[in-house]
Amino acid sequence: MKWVFLLVLLLVGAAVSLMGGALVLRWTNNMTQTVKVVPGEQVLAMPTGTVPRSGGELWLPREEREAATKRANPVRATPESVATGQKLFGIHCTPCHGSAGKGDGPVTPRFIPPPDLSHPSIQTQRTDGYIQHVIGTGGAVMPAYGEALSPEERWHVVNFLRTLARR
Ligand code: HEC
Repeated sequence: MKWVFLLVLLLVGAAVSLMGGALVLRWTNNMTQTVKVVPGEQVLAMPTGTVPRSGGELWLPREEREAATKRANPVRATPESVATGQKLFGIHCTPCHGSAGKGDGPVTPRFIPPPDLSHPSIQTQRTDGYIQHVIGTGGAVMPAYGEALSPEERWHVVNFLRTLARR
């Protein structure tokens, strides 16, 4: 009787180890048998929208300031555009730059004083493209507003800033 029990035990053991072995084999071979695309193996066409753009405008990083400076302002300085720019300036910029851009916002006593935006050094020497890019990517210490303001909104802010020169 004893040897029947041992034989059954042996059979069960053999079956379990066979199944286990099959399982292990299946999982270990898996990685080498998948469909894979080797880098550089084929040149795929770029899907549209994969070049970084924001709001339809090519996204130029901070290092590309020179290229950004040369861009023309696509938004006409209509009274509506200036009003929109003034509203956005009031929300995002006045804490540091002050409501008239003089650099006297409430934050300035505890922060690096920002430049007077109505000053000729900015009004005549800086292009619209430059200022729009500074707003989007930030300055040396000024924060970037590319996340908060769309490219078009930034052009509106530029149009508002241009009215400061005449005040
Ligand atoms: C946290 C404070 C702060 C806020 C908010 C801020 N700025 Fe500035 N801004 C500065 C400081 C400081 C400088 C000068 C140093 C630098 O470039 O970082 C500056 C510089 C500038 C310049 C001149 C850049 C140059 O190179 O001549 C412009 C234009 C400007 N800011 C526009 C804006 C506009 C528009 C907004 C709102 C969208 C804004 N800033 C929000 C602090 C701020």
